[in-house]
Formats: sequence, structure tokens, C-alpha cells
Amino acid sequence: MKIILMGGPGAGKGTQASPLVEQFHFPHISTGDMFRAAIKDGTALGLKAKSYMDAGGLVPDEVTIGIVEERLALPDCADGFLLDGFPRTLAQGSALADILDRLGMKLDGVINIEVAEEVLIPRLTGRRVCRQCGASYHMVFNPPKEEGVCGQCGGELYQRSDDTVETAKNRLNVYNSQTEPLIAFYEEKGLINRINGDQPIDKVFQDILKALA
Ligand code: AP5
Ligand code: MG
Ligand code: ZN
Repeated sequence: MKIILMGGPGAGKGTQASPLVEQFHFPHISTGDMFRAAIKDGTALGLKAKSYMDAGGLVPDEVTIGIVEERLALPDCADGFLLDGFPRTLAQGSALADILDRLGMKLDGVINIEVAEEVLIPRLTGRRVCRQCGASYHMVFNPPKEEGVCGQCGGELYQRSDDTVETAKNRLNVYNSQTEPLIAFYEEKGLINRINGDQPIDKVFQDILKALA
């Protein structure tokens, strides 16, 4: 299964990626996670990405496309992958089409998790993420059993530095202007599956499975 998970900031891409990986055993490729790992490791990629991420803007296309191209060429992607947060510009969408052509791969579908803007901001500001495995929690909507501790791996939970109200609003604006147009791009190709993301986490997952069946 080769699929793209789309949706605004806080729509639930990372949250749905966990059960999808459990079900399909494919690599979860999140460009946001890759950039955060690079920043943590202090690599050249991390240095390039940091200022854009801190401001809630997009890392330049040429940087982002390059890391995805390298990742998709690794052998574990041959049978399938889950792209999360890529593509998010029309330029990234056409670059991805070229990359997949070169690799002889075809997308099975695009899942667009739809959630109203007013729901997204409180999701972002209340989010906590595991330092170790990246699992997403929410102080109110999806709290961990033990405060500050990941229920999946025991790792420490932290708040992402771009989850402040101000940066979250910037990310929403960027999503609306740069990423939203990709929905029509994939609709034309007959690949889009619209999922109501304003439902309990399990129900969203069941709807995604139905769409992929
Ligand atoms: P990235 O890490 O991809 O952030 P994002 O797109 O803003 O999305 P999020 O990770 O914030 O949200 P999500 O949909 O994964 O939500 P989650 O499941 O955690 O990117 C970060 C930055 O990196 C970008 O701003 C950019 O600078 C850069 N970047 C990344 N990719 C790039 C690219 N391709 N090009 C250029 N730059 C790029 O859920 C959110 C919260 O809601 C959690 O607390 C969760 O518990 C809760 N929740 C989830 N589902 C539900 C539900 N159904 N009901 C109630 N609560 C829920
Ligand atoms: Mg995410
Ligand atoms: Zn964890």
C-alpha cells in the first residue's frame, strides 16, 4: 500500500499513522519528524530547517524534495509507504509524481483528514509528543495514562516548540495558501479520499480503512 496522509496542522496525521503502520507494516515517512530528528542531531539539514519550522513556515522545496527522494529509494519502501506531511506544495506534488515514475511506483490513494480550523488550534496547543517514539497525545482529548509518560514506550512527553497559539496560526495560514491546492491536484487524478477527522480517533481510523479497502 502506497499512500499519502494529508490534512491541516493537528488534523491527526501522526495519530492515525500509528495504527496504519501496525496494520500495513509500511514505513511511516513524516518530513516533520525527519526535520525534528535532524535538528536534535545538529546536522546541516537541521540547521537549514530550524528557522522555517520555528516560524511555522515551510522548509524550501528543494531541501524537502531531496530528503524524500532519498528516503523513497531505500529498499523498505519497495512494497509500500505512508507519506505524512509530504507533499505540501504543488511543486512537491509534481516532484513526487516524477520520483515515483523513476522508481516505477504508483500511489494507491491520498487520505485527506478534514477538520475545521477552530478545532485545530486547541488540538495543537494541548498536544504532547513522546521524545522517544514520536507518539502524539493530548492533555484533554487523548491523555496518557501516566502524566508526562508515553503509554507505548515509557518515553518522556514534551511540547513541540511550534505548538504555540501564534505559530499554530501561521501554520494554518501556510496550509490554506500552499497545501490546500494539492487537494484539487489529487482530486483530478481520482486519488482523494475525504475523511471526517472531527470524530473519535478510532472512528477516524475505521473510516480510513474503509476508504482504502
Ligand atoms: P509536521 O510535523 O508535519 O506538522 P503539521 O503538518 O503542522 O502537522 P502536525 O504534526 O502538527 O499535526 P498532525 O496532523 O500530525 O496531528 P497529530 O496526529 O499530532 O511539520 C512541522 C513543520 O516542519 C512544518 O511547519 C514545516 O516547517 C516543516 N515541514 C514538514 N513537512 C514539510 C514539507 N513537506 N515541506 C516543507 N516544510 C515541511 O494530532 C494533533 C493533536 O490532536 C494531538 O494532541 C492528538 O492527540 C490530537 N488528536 C488527533 N486526532 C484527534 C481526534 N480525532 N480527536 C481529538 N483529538 C485528536
Ligand atoms: Mg504530525
Ligand atoms: Zn513513546
